[in-house]
Amino acid sequence: MMTGSIAAMGGGSLPLVIQGGMGTGVSNWTLARAVSEVGQLGVVSGTVMDTIFVRRLQDGDIGGHMRRAMEHFPMPGVSENALRRYFLPEGRPEGVPYKLLPMYKQVVSVARQQITMLANFAEVYLAKEGHDGPVGINLLTKVQLPNLASLYGAMLAGVDYVLMGAGIPKEIPGVLDAFAEHKPASLRLDVEGLGSGEAEYMTLDPSDYWETLPAPIARPNFLPIISANSLATTLARKSTGRVDGFIVEGPTAGGHNAPPRGEMRLDDRGQPVYGDRDIVNLDKLAELGLPFWLAGGTGSPEGLRNALAAGAAGVQVGTLFAYCDESGLTSDLKLRTLTGAVRGEVGIHTDPRASPTGYPFKVVQVEGLDSQDDRRTRNCDLGYLRTAVKNEEGRLIYRCAAEPIDTYLKKGGELSETVGRRCLCNALVSNIGHAQERADDGGVEMPLLTSGDDLLAIGRFLNGRTSYTAADVVDYLCSGITETSVAASGVEAGSASA
Ligand SMILES: Cc1cc2nc3c(=O)[nH]c(=O)nc-3n(C[C@H](O)[C@H](O)[C@H](O)COP(=O)(O)O)c2cc1C
Repeated sequence: MMTGSIAAMGGGSLPLVIQGGMGTGVSNWTLARAVSEVGQLGVVSGTVMDTIFVRRLQDGDIGGHMRRAMEHFPMPGVSENALRRYFLPEGRPEGVPYKLLPMYKQVVSVARQQITMLANFAEVYLAKEGHDGPVGINLLTKVQLPNLASLYGAMLAGVDYVLMGAGIPKEIPGVLDAFAEHKPASLRLDVEGLGSGEAEYMTLDPSDYWETLPAPIARPNFLPIISANSLATTLARKSTGRVDGFIVEGPTAGGHNAPPRGEMRLDDRGQPVYGDRDIVNLDKLAELGLPFWLAGGTGSPEGLRNALAAGAAGVQVGTLFAYCDESGLTSDLKLRTLTGAVRGEVGIHTDPRASPTGYPFKVVQVEGLDSQDDRRTRNCDLGYLRTAVKNEEGRLIYRCAAEPIDTYLKKGGELSETVGRRCLCNALVSNIGHAQERADDGGVEMPLLTSGDDLLAIGRFLNGRTSYTAADVVDYLCSGITETSVAASGVEAGSASA
Protein backbone atom coordinates (compact mmCIF):
# COMPACT_ATOMS: atom_id res chain seq x y z
CA MET A 1 0.00 0.00 0.00
CA MET A 2 1.24 3.48 -0.80
CA THR A 3 0.10 6.73 0.63
CA GLY A 4 1.61 10.15 0.99
CA SER A 5 4.53 9.97 -1.38
CA ILE A 6 2.50 8.99 -4.41
CA ALA A 7 2.17 12.54 -5.60
CA ALA A 8 5.85 12.58 -6.37
CA MET A 9 5.79 9.27 -8.23
CA GLY A 10 5.80 8.40 -11.88
CA GLY A 11 8.30 11.13 -12.54
CA GLY A 12 5.60 13.75 -12.16
CA SER A 13 4.08 15.96 -9.56
CA LEU A 14 0.43 15.28 -10.27
CA PRO A 15 -1.76 14.19 -7.37
CA LEU A 16 -3.41 10.78 -7.51
CA VAL A 17 -6.20 11.97 -5.28
CA ILE A 18 -7.88 15.35 -5.47
CA GLN A 19 -10.17 16.08 -2.57
CA GLY A 20 -13.00 17.78 -4.43
CA GLY A 21 -14.08 21.30 -3.58
CA MET A 22 -17.26 21.16 -1.49
CA GLY A 23 -19.30 24.25 -0.91
CA THR A 24 -20.21 25.89 1.17
CA GLY A 25 -17.43 25.54 3.69
CA VAL A 26 -17.54 21.71 3.71
CA SER A 27 -14.07 21.56 2.20
CA ASN A 28 -12.69 24.21 4.50
CA TRP A 29 -9.04 24.99 5.22
CA THR A 30 -8.79 22.27 7.88
CA LEU A 31 -9.82 19.54 5.44
CA ALA A 32 -7.76 20.82 2.52
CA ARG A 33 -4.68 21.16 4.71
CA ALA A 34 -5.09 17.62 6.09
CA VAL A 35 -5.23 16.24 2.54
CA SER A 36 -2.30 18.29 1.27
CA GLU A 37 -0.25 17.29 4.29
CA VAL A 38 -0.44 13.64 3.25
CA GLY A 39 0.78 14.42 -0.25
CA GLN A 40 -2.46 14.71 -2.24
CA LEU A 41 -4.33 17.79 -3.44
CA GLY A 42 -6.53 19.49 -0.84
CA VAL A 43 -9.06 21.93 -2.25
CA VAL A 44 -10.88 24.64 -0.32
CA SER A 45 -14.26 25.84 -1.49
CA GLY A 46 -14.34 29.58 -2.17
CA THR A 47 -18.11 29.66 -2.69
CA VAL A 48 -19.88 31.97 -0.18
CA MET A 49 -16.51 32.28 1.59
CA ASP A 50 -17.04 35.97 2.41
CA THR A 51 -20.22 35.25 4.37
CA ILE A 52 -18.69 32.22 6.10
CA PHE A 53 -15.67 34.31 7.05
CA VAL A 54 -17.67 37.14 8.65
CA ARG A 55 -19.81 34.58 10.47
CA ARG A 56 -16.73 32.90 11.90
CA LEU A 57 -15.63 36.33 13.15
CA GLN A 58 -19.06 36.93 14.69
CA ASP A 59 -18.85 33.56 16.42
CA GLY A 60 -15.71 34.77 18.19
CA ASP A 61 -13.12 33.31 15.78
CA ILE A 62 -12.65 30.23 17.91
CA GLY A 63 -8.98 29.24 17.92
CA GLY A 64 -7.95 32.63 16.51
CA HIS A 65 -7.30 31.16 13.04
CA MET A 66 -9.00 33.90 11.04
CA ARG A 67 -7.11 36.59 12.92
CA ARG A 68 -3.83 34.73 12.42
CA ALA A 69 -4.40 34.61 8.67
CA MET A 70 -5.64 38.21 8.56
CA GLU A 71 -2.31 39.44 9.92
CA HIS A 72 -0.75 38.29 6.64
CA PHE A 73 -3.21 39.92 4.24
CA PRO A 74 -1.05 42.32 2.27
CA MET A 75 -3.49 45.20 1.59
CA PRO A 76 -3.12 47.72 4.39
CA GLY A 77 -6.09 48.42 6.66
CA VAL A 78 -8.43 45.74 5.26
CA SER A 79 -8.10 43.26 8.14
CA GLU A 80 -8.49 46.02 10.72
CA ASN A 81 -11.71 47.19 9.06
CA ALA A 82 -13.08 43.66 8.94
CA LEU A 83 -12.30 43.11 12.62
CA ARG A 84 -13.94 46.38 13.58
CA ARG A 85 -17.11 45.57 11.66
CA TYR A 86 -17.56 41.85 12.28
CA PHE A 87 -15.43 40.44 15.10
CA LEU A 88 -17.29 39.70 18.34
CA PRO A 89 -14.73 38.49 20.93
CA GLU A 90 -17.44 36.81 23.01
CA GLY A 91 -19.39 35.51 20.03
CA ARG A 92 -22.98 36.44 19.16
CA PRO A 93 -25.43 36.74 22.00
CA GLU A 94 -28.04 33.97 21.79
CA GLY A 95 -30.89 34.66 19.39
CA VAL A 96 -29.14 37.57 17.70
CA PRO A 97 -29.02 37.18 13.91
CA TYR A 98 -25.70 37.37 12.09
CA LYS A 99 -24.82 40.74 10.60
CA LEU A 100 -25.00 40.44 6.81
CA LEU A 101 -22.73 41.58 4.02
CA PRO A 102 -24.31 43.64 1.24
CA MET A 103 -25.46 41.29 -1.53
CA TYR A 104 -23.33 41.12 -4.65
CA LYS A 105 -24.15 43.11 -7.78
CA GLN A 106 -22.31 43.88 -11.01
CA VAL A 107 -20.50 46.71 -9.28
CA VAL A 108 -19.87 46.75 -5.54
CA SER A 109 -17.74 48.93 -3.29
CA VAL A 110 -13.99 48.54 -2.87
CA ALA A 111 -14.58 47.56 0.77
CA ARG A 112 -17.04 44.82 -0.25
CA GLN A 113 -14.61 43.34 -2.76
CA GLN A 114 -11.84 43.50 -0.17
CA ILE A 115 -13.85 41.36 2.26
CA THR A 116 -14.20 38.71 -0.43
CA MET A 117 -10.49 38.89 -1.24
CA LEU A 118 -9.61 38.69 2.45
CA ALA A 119 -11.92 35.74 3.11
CA ASN A 120 -10.51 33.70 0.22
CA PHE A 121 -6.98 34.74 1.10
CA ALA A 122 -7.46 33.53 4.68
CA GLU A 123 -8.89 30.16 3.63
CA VAL A 124 -6.02 29.45 1.27
CA TYR A 125 -3.39 30.87 3.63
CA LEU A 126 -4.53 28.53 6.42
CA ALA A 127 -4.81 25.52 4.11
CA LYS A 128 -1.19 26.09 3.04
CA GLU A 129 0.16 26.78 6.51
CA GLY A 130 2.84 24.47 7.90
CA HIS A 131 3.57 22.25 4.86
CA ASP A 132 4.84 22.50 1.28
CA GLY A 133 2.04 20.64 -0.50
CA PRO A 134 -0.11 22.30 -3.14
CA VAL A 135 -3.61 23.59 -2.36
CA GLY A 136 -6.47 24.34 -4.73
CA ILE A 137 -9.59 26.47 -4.64
CA ASN A 138 -12.95 25.51 -6.13
CA LEU A 139 -15.45 28.06 -7.40
CA LEU A 140 -18.69 27.70 -9.28
CA THR A 141 -18.72 29.43 -12.66
CA LYS A 142 -22.44 30.12 -12.26
CA VAL A 143 -22.02 32.04 -9.01
CA GLN A 144 -20.51 34.77 -11.11
CA LEU A 145 -20.49 37.95 -9.11
CA PRO A 146 -17.87 37.29 -6.39
CA ASN A 147 -15.55 35.21 -8.58
CA LEU A 148 -13.02 37.86 -9.61
CA ALA A 149 -12.41 39.03 -6.05
CA SER A 150 -12.34 35.42 -4.80
CA LEU A 151 -9.70 34.45 -7.37
CA TYR A 152 -7.53 37.47 -6.70
CA GLY A 153 -7.67 36.91 -2.92
CA ALA A 154 -6.80 33.22 -3.31
CA MET A 155 -3.89 34.11 -5.62
CA LEU A 156 -2.54 36.62 -3.11
CA ALA A 157 -2.25 33.63 -0.74
CA GLY A 158 -0.40 31.59 -3.39
CA VAL A 159 -3.14 29.14 -4.39
CA ASP A 160 -1.67 26.40 -6.62
CA TYR A 161 -4.75 25.17 -8.48
CA VAL A 162 -8.10 26.67 -9.47
CA LEU A 163 -10.89 24.17 -10.17
CA MET A 164 -14.15 25.39 -11.64
CA GLY A 165 -17.29 23.71 -12.95
CA ALA A 166 -21.03 24.46 -13.10
CA GLY A 167 -20.75 26.41 -16.33
CA ILE A 168 -18.22 27.06 -19.08
CA PRO A 169 -15.24 28.74 -17.43
CA LYS A 170 -13.40 29.63 -20.63
CA GLU A 171 -12.54 33.18 -19.58
CA ILE A 172 -10.87 32.10 -16.33
CA PRO A 173 -7.39 31.21 -17.67
CA GLY A 174 -6.98 34.76 -19.00
CA VAL A 175 -8.13 36.16 -15.65
CA LEU A 176 -5.46 34.11 -13.86
CA ASP A 177 -2.80 35.35 -16.28
CA ALA A 178 -3.86 38.97 -15.73
CA PHE A 179 -4.07 38.74 -11.94
CA ALA A 180 -0.63 37.12 -11.75
CA GLU A 181 0.68 40.47 -12.99
CA HIS A 182 -1.90 42.53 -11.04
CA LYS A 183 -3.51 43.61 -14.31
CA PRO A 184 -7.26 44.25 -14.67
CA ALA A 185 -9.52 41.36 -15.70
CA SER A 186 -13.15 41.10 -16.76
CA LEU A 187 -15.76 38.38 -16.97
CA ARG A 188 -18.86 38.56 -19.09
CA LEU A 189 -21.95 38.76 -16.88
CA ASP A 190 -24.91 36.59 -17.90
CA VAL A 191 -27.88 38.94 -18.14
CA GLU A 192 -31.37 37.95 -19.22
CA GLY A 193 -33.11 40.37 -21.54
CA LEU A 194 -30.06 41.85 -23.26
CA GLY A 195 -30.53 42.90 -26.87
CA SER A 196 -28.44 41.30 -29.59
CA GLY A 197 -24.97 42.78 -29.63
CA GLU A 198 -25.31 43.97 -26.02
CA ALA A 199 -22.98 42.63 -23.34
CA GLU A 200 -22.36 43.35 -19.68
CA TYR A 201 -19.12 42.72 -17.80
CA MET A 202 -17.71 42.58 -14.31
CA THR A 203 -14.23 44.01 -13.92
CA LEU A 204 -11.65 43.95 -11.19
CA ASP A 205 -8.64 46.22 -11.51
CA PRO A 206 -6.02 45.42 -8.85
CA SER A 207 -4.63 48.96 -9.12
CA ASP A 208 -7.84 50.19 -7.42
CA TYR A 209 -6.73 48.30 -4.32
CA TRP A 210 -3.06 49.21 -3.97
CA GLU A 211 -1.10 52.44 -3.74
CA THR A 212 1.83 50.68 -5.37
CA LEU A 213 1.32 47.41 -7.19
CA PRO A 214 3.25 44.51 -5.61
CA ALA A 215 5.58 42.13 -7.49
CA PRO A 216 3.94 39.57 -9.80
CA ILE A 217 2.49 36.47 -8.12
CA ALA A 218 2.28 32.82 -9.23
CA ARG A 219 -0.31 31.87 -11.83
CA PRO A 220 -2.16 28.81 -10.51
CA ASN A 221 -2.90 25.76 -12.66
CA PHE A 222 -6.42 25.68 -14.00
CA LEU A 223 -8.52 22.50 -13.98
CA PRO A 224 -12.04 22.97 -15.34
CA ILE A 225 -14.66 20.39 -14.34
CA ILE A 226 -16.34 18.90 -17.39
CA SER A 227 -18.96 16.27 -18.16
CA ALA A 228 -18.81 16.20 -21.99
CA ASN A 229 -16.03 15.84 -24.57
CA SER A 230 -17.31 18.86 -26.47
CA LEU A 231 -16.88 21.07 -23.42
CA ALA A 232 -13.34 19.82 -22.83
CA THR A 233 -12.43 20.50 -26.45
CA THR A 234 -13.92 24.00 -26.34
CA LEU A 235 -12.07 24.77 -23.14
CA ALA A 236 -8.76 23.39 -24.41
CA ARG A 237 -8.96 25.26 -27.72
CA LYS A 238 -10.94 28.42 -27.05
CA SER A 239 -10.11 29.50 -23.53
CA THR A 240 -8.48 32.85 -22.96
CA GLY A 241 -5.32 31.15 -21.71
CA ARG A 242 -3.75 27.88 -20.59
CA VAL A 243 -5.86 24.96 -19.35
CA ASP A 244 -3.80 22.46 -17.35
CA GLY A 245 -6.06 19.41 -17.17
CA PHE A 246 -9.64 18.32 -16.56
CA ILE A 247 -11.82 16.89 -13.86
CA VAL A 248 -14.32 14.56 -15.54
CA GLU A 249 -17.40 14.50 -13.33
CA GLY A 250 -20.21 11.98 -13.78
CA PRO A 251 -23.83 12.22 -12.59
CA THR A 252 -23.31 10.12 -9.43
CA ALA A 253 -21.13 12.86 -7.90
CA GLY A 254 -22.30 14.87 -4.90
CA GLY A 255 -23.35 18.52 -5.19
CA HIS A 256 -24.65 19.94 -8.46
CA ASN A 257 -24.64 17.68 -11.53
CA ALA A 258 -24.55 18.68 -15.16
CA PRO A 259 -28.04 18.29 -16.65
CA PRO A 260 -28.48 15.33 -19.04
CA ARG A 261 -27.70 16.13 -22.65
CA GLY A 262 -30.72 16.54 -24.87
CA GLU A 263 -34.26 16.76 -23.58
CA MET A 264 -34.71 16.37 -19.81
CA ARG A 265 -36.47 13.09 -18.97
CA LEU A 266 -37.34 12.11 -15.42
CA ASP A 267 -37.55 8.65 -13.84
CA ASP A 268 -40.44 7.52 -11.60
CA ARG A 269 -38.80 9.26 -8.61
CA GLY A 270 -38.60 12.53 -10.55
CA GLN A 271 -34.85 12.31 -11.12
CA PRO A 272 -33.08 13.18 -14.38
CA VAL A 273 -32.33 10.19 -16.59
CA TYR A 274 -28.80 10.05 -17.96
CA GLY A 275 -27.88 8.08 -21.06
CA ASP A 276 -25.00 7.18 -23.34
CA ARG A 277 -24.58 10.75 -24.51
CA ASP A 278 -23.64 11.74 -20.98
CA ILE A 279 -20.64 9.43 -20.89
CA VAL A 280 -17.31 11.09 -21.59
CA ASN A 281 -15.16 9.21 -24.12
CA LEU A 282 -11.84 9.06 -22.27
CA ASP A 283 -9.78 8.00 -25.29
CA LYS A 284 -11.01 11.06 -27.14
CA LEU A 285 -10.38 13.22 -24.10
CA ALA A 286 -6.82 11.89 -23.87
CA GLU A 287 -6.19 13.13 -27.41
CA LEU A 288 -6.24 16.67 -26.00
CA GLY A 289 -2.95 15.76 -24.35
CA LEU A 290 -3.82 17.02 -20.88
CA PRO A 291 -4.02 15.06 -17.61
CA PHE A 292 -7.46 14.28 -16.23
CA TRP A 293 -9.02 12.98 -13.03
CA LEU A 294 -12.29 11.02 -12.74
CA ALA A 295 -14.95 12.19 -10.28
CA GLY A 296 -18.28 10.70 -9.24
CA GLY A 297 -18.41 7.24 -7.71
CA THR A 298 -14.63 6.86 -7.85
CA GLY A 299 -14.13 6.95 -4.07
CA SER A 300 -12.74 3.44 -3.58
CA PRO A 301 -9.45 1.60 -4.18
CA GLU A 302 -11.01 0.03 -7.30
CA GLY A 303 -12.21 3.46 -8.39
CA LEU A 304 -8.65 4.75 -8.33
CA ARG A 305 -7.20 1.63 -9.95
CA ASN A 306 -9.79 1.73 -12.74
CA ALA A 307 -9.18 5.42 -13.31
CA LEU A 308 -5.46 4.82 -13.71
CA ALA A 309 -6.13 1.92 -16.04
CA ALA A 310 -8.32 4.23 -18.14
CA GLY A 311 -5.47 6.68 -18.55
CA ALA A 312 -6.48 9.15 -15.84
CA ALA A 313 -3.94 10.78 -13.52
CA GLY A 314 -6.17 9.84 -10.59
CA VAL A 315 -9.53 10.57 -9.03
CA GLN A 316 -11.37 13.49 -7.49
CA VAL A 317 -13.40 12.39 -4.47
CA GLY A 318 -15.96 14.37 -2.49
CA THR A 319 -18.46 12.26 -0.57
CA LEU A 320 -15.96 10.26 1.51
CA PHE A 321 -14.15 13.45 2.52
CA ALA A 322 -17.40 15.29 3.34
CA TYR A 323 -17.97 13.16 6.45
CA CYS A 324 -14.39 13.01 7.81
CA ASP A 325 -13.44 14.68 11.08
CA GLU A 326 -11.80 17.68 9.39
CA SER A 327 -14.71 18.65 7.12
CA GLY A 328 -16.90 21.66 7.84
CA LEU A 329 -20.22 19.77 8.27
CA THR A 330 -21.48 19.88 11.83
CA SER A 331 -20.61 16.82 13.94
CA ASP A 332 -24.31 16.16 14.45
CA LEU A 333 -25.00 16.00 10.70
CA LYS A 334 -21.98 13.75 10.14
CA LEU A 335 -22.93 11.29 12.87
CA ARG A 336 -26.62 11.12 11.99
CA THR A 337 -25.89 10.64 8.31
CA LEU A 338 -23.18 8.03 8.79
CA THR A 339 -25.20 5.98 11.27
CA GLY A 340 -28.28 6.34 9.07
CA ALA A 341 -26.35 5.27 5.97
CA VAL A 342 -25.04 2.13 7.68
CA ARG A 343 -28.57 1.22 8.80
CA GLY A 344 -29.98 1.85 5.33
CA GLU A 345 -32.02 4.83 6.54
CA VAL A 346 -30.53 7.32 4.10
CA GLY A 347 -31.57 8.05 0.54
CA ILE A 348 -30.20 10.25 -2.23
CA HIS A 349 -32.53 12.16 -4.51
CA THR A 350 -31.22 13.94 -7.59
CA ASP A 351 -33.57 16.89 -7.50
CA PRO A 352 -33.93 18.79 -10.77
CA ARG A 353 -35.80 21.67 -9.04
CA ALA A 354 -34.06 22.33 -5.71
CA SER A 355 -31.22 24.50 -6.95
CA PRO A 356 -32.08 27.95 -8.28
CA THR A 357 -29.18 27.47 -10.72
CA GLY A 358 -31.41 25.06 -12.67
CA TYR A 359 -28.75 22.32 -12.39
CA PRO A 360 -29.80 19.01 -10.81
CA PHE A 361 -28.71 18.89 -7.16
CA LYS A 362 -28.23 15.72 -5.13
CA VAL A 363 -30.12 15.89 -1.84
CA VAL A 364 -29.45 13.49 1.06
CA GLN A 365 -32.58 12.32 2.84
CA VAL A 366 -31.86 11.20 6.40
CA GLU A 367 -34.71 9.66 8.36
CA GLY A 368 -35.66 11.91 11.28
CA LEU A 369 -33.52 14.86 10.15
CA ASP A 370 -35.40 18.10 9.59
CA SER A 371 -34.27 19.67 6.31
CA GLN A 372 -35.28 22.80 4.45
CA ASP A 373 -38.52 22.28 2.51
CA ASP A 374 -41.59 24.19 1.29
CA ARG A 375 -42.48 25.20 4.88
CA ARG A 376 -39.63 27.72 4.91
CA THR A 377 -40.71 31.36 4.94
CA ARG A 378 -38.92 32.62 1.87
CA ASN A 379 -36.26 35.22 2.47
CA CYS A 380 -33.36 36.18 0.19
CA ASP A 381 -30.58 37.82 2.16
CA LEU A 382 -27.41 36.15 0.91
CA GLY A 383 -28.20 36.31 -2.79
CA TYR A 384 -25.28 34.38 -4.31
CA LEU A 385 -27.59 32.58 -6.73
CA ARG A 386 -29.37 35.71 -7.94
CA THR A 387 -29.14 36.25 -11.66
CA ALA A 388 -29.07 39.58 -13.46
CA VAL A 389 -31.97 40.70 -15.62
CA LYS A 390 -32.25 43.87 -17.68
CA ASN A 391 -35.62 45.42 -16.84
CA GLU A 392 -37.88 47.58 -18.99
CA GLU A 393 -36.15 50.78 -17.88
CA GLY A 394 -32.86 49.28 -19.03
CA ARG A 395 -31.51 48.80 -15.48
CA LEU A 396 -29.95 45.60 -14.16
CA ILE A 397 -31.97 43.94 -11.41
CA TYR A 398 -31.24 40.70 -9.59
CA ARG A 399 -33.59 37.85 -8.80
CA CYS A 400 -33.55 34.28 -7.48
CA ALA A 401 -36.27 31.68 -8.00
CA ALA A 402 -36.05 30.79 -4.29
CA GLU A 403 -36.77 34.35 -3.09
CA PRO A 404 -40.26 35.40 -1.87
CA ILE A 405 -42.60 34.55 -4.73
CA ASP A 406 -44.33 37.94 -5.00
CA THR A 407 -40.95 39.69 -5.18
CA TYR A 408 -39.79 37.31 -7.88
CA LEU A 409 -42.96 37.87 -9.90
CA LYS A 410 -42.63 41.65 -9.54
CA LYS A 411 -39.17 41.33 -11.06
CA GLY A 412 -40.71 39.66 -14.11
CA GLY A 413 -40.00 36.05 -13.06
CA GLU A 414 -42.35 33.18 -13.96
CA LEU A 415 -44.34 31.45 -11.20
CA SER A 416 -43.44 28.02 -12.57
CA GLU A 417 -39.76 28.83 -11.99
CA THR A 418 -40.29 29.14 -8.23
CA VAL A 419 -41.79 25.67 -7.69
CA GLY A 420 -39.69 23.38 -5.50
CA ARG A 421 -36.77 25.80 -5.25
CA ARG A 422 -34.66 25.74 -2.12
CA CYS A 423 -32.60 28.57 -0.67
CA LEU A 424 -29.27 26.78 -1.04
CA CYS A 425 -27.38 29.83 0.25
CA ASN A 426 -28.98 29.67 3.69
CA ALA A 427 -29.31 25.88 3.87
CA LEU A 428 -25.71 25.14 2.97
CA VAL A 429 -24.39 27.67 5.46
CA SER A 430 -26.63 25.99 8.06
CA ASN A 431 -24.96 22.64 7.23
CA ILE A 432 -21.66 23.96 8.54
CA GLY A 433 -23.00 25.44 11.78
CA HIS A 434 -23.58 29.05 10.77
CA ALA A 435 -27.38 28.95 10.39
CA GLN A 436 -29.02 32.35 10.35
CA GLU A 437 -31.49 32.99 13.16
CA ARG A 438 -34.62 34.82 12.15
CA ALA A 439 -35.47 37.45 14.73
CA ASP A 440 -39.02 37.89 13.38
CA ASP A 441 -40.38 34.38 13.90
CA GLY A 442 -37.60 32.92 16.00
CA GLY A 443 -36.85 30.29 13.39
CA VAL A 444 -33.43 29.00 12.43
CA GLU A 445 -32.44 28.18 8.86
CA MET A 446 -32.63 24.43 8.27
CA PRO A 447 -29.86 22.38 6.64
CA LEU A 448 -29.99 20.61 3.28
CA LEU A 449 -27.29 18.00 2.78
CA THR A 450 -25.80 16.91 -0.51
CA SER A 451 -23.67 13.86 -1.28
CA GLY A 452 -22.91 11.48 -4.09
CA ASP A 453 -24.45 8.04 -4.53
CA ASP A 454 -21.31 6.62 -2.86
CA LEU A 455 -22.82 7.60 0.49
CA LEU A 456 -25.22 4.68 0.28
CA ALA A 457 -22.32 2.23 0.29
CA ILE A 458 -20.13 4.02 2.82
CA GLY A 459 -20.53 1.15 5.32
CA ARG A 460 -17.82 -0.79 3.51
CA PHE A 461 -15.30 1.99 4.09
CA LEU A 462 -16.50 2.71 7.64
CA ASN A 463 -16.07 -0.91 8.70
CA GLY A 464 -17.87 -0.27 11.99
CA ARG A 465 -16.41 3.22 12.64
CA THR A 466 -18.53 6.36 13.00
CA SER A 467 -15.65 8.76 12.62
CA TYR A 468 -12.48 8.89 10.55
CA THR A 469 -9.89 11.34 9.27
CA ALA A 470 -8.98 12.71 5.85
CA ALA A 471 -5.75 10.68 6.02
CA ASP A 472 -7.85 7.52 6.52
CA VAL A 473 -9.66 8.34 3.24
CA VAL A 474 -6.38 8.84 1.39
CA ASP A 475 -4.95 5.58 2.84
CA TYR A 476 -8.11 3.70 1.82
CA LEU A 477 -8.17 5.08 -1.72
CA CYS A 478 -4.50 4.34 -2.26
CA SER A 479 -4.52 0.88 -0.69
CA GLY A 480 -3.51 -1.58 -3.36
CA ILE A 481 -1.90 1.06 -5.53
CA THR A 482 1.64 0.25 -6.42
CA GLU A 483 4.30 2.15 -8.28
CA THR A 484 3.71 -0.25 -11.17
CA SER A 485 0.01 0.64 -11.45
CA VAL A 486 0.84 4.33 -11.55
CA ALA A 487 3.56 3.81 -14.13
CA ALA A 488 1.24 1.54 -16.16
CA SER A 489 -1.30 4.34 -16.39
CA GLY A 490 1.18 6.10 -18.65
CA VAL A 491 0.42 9.44 -17.02
CA GLU A 492 3.41 11.67 -16.90
CA ALA A 493 3.73 15.08 -15.42
CA GLY A 494 1.67 17.34 -17.62
CA SER A 495 1.85 21.07 -17.63
CA ALA A 496 0.08 21.00 -14.27
CA SER A 497 2.73 21.17 -11.64
CA ALA A 498 2.43 22.88 -8.36
C1 LIG B 1 -21.04 18.01 0.11
C2 LIG B 1 -20.58 18.21 -1.30
C3 LIG B 1 -20.49 19.50 -1.80
C4 LIG B 1 -19.98 19.71 -3.09
N1 LIG B 1 -19.82 20.99 -3.54
C5 LIG B 1 -19.20 21.22 -4.72
C6 LIG B 1 -18.88 22.55 -5.12
O1 LIG B 1 -19.15 23.52 -4.42
N2 LIG B 1 -18.25 22.71 -6.31
C7 LIG B 1 -17.90 21.65 -7.12
O2 LIG B 1 -17.32 21.87 -8.19
N3 LIG B 1 -18.19 20.38 -6.75
C8 LIG B 1 -18.80 20.14 -5.57
N4 LIG B 1 -19.02 18.85 -5.15
C9 LIG B 1 -18.51 17.74 -5.99
C10 LIG B 1 -17.12 17.27 -5.50
O3 LIG B 1 -16.14 18.26 -5.67
C11 LIG B 1 -16.65 16.01 -6.24
O4 LIG B 1 -16.44 16.25 -7.60
C12 LIG B 1 -17.66 14.87 -6.12
O5 LIG B 1 -18.13 14.78 -4.82
C13 LIG B 1 -17.00 13.56 -6.53
O6 LIG B 1 -17.91 12.50 -6.51
P1 LIG B 1 -18.26 11.65 -5.19
O7 LIG B 1 -19.24 12.46 -4.44
O8 LIG B 1 -18.86 10.39 -5.76
O9 LIG B 1 -16.99 11.40 -4.44
C14 LIG B 1 -19.59 18.61 -3.89
C15 LIG B 1 -19.72 17.32 -3.38
C16 LIG B 1 -20.20 17.10 -2.10
C17 LIG B 1 -20.30 15.71 -1.57
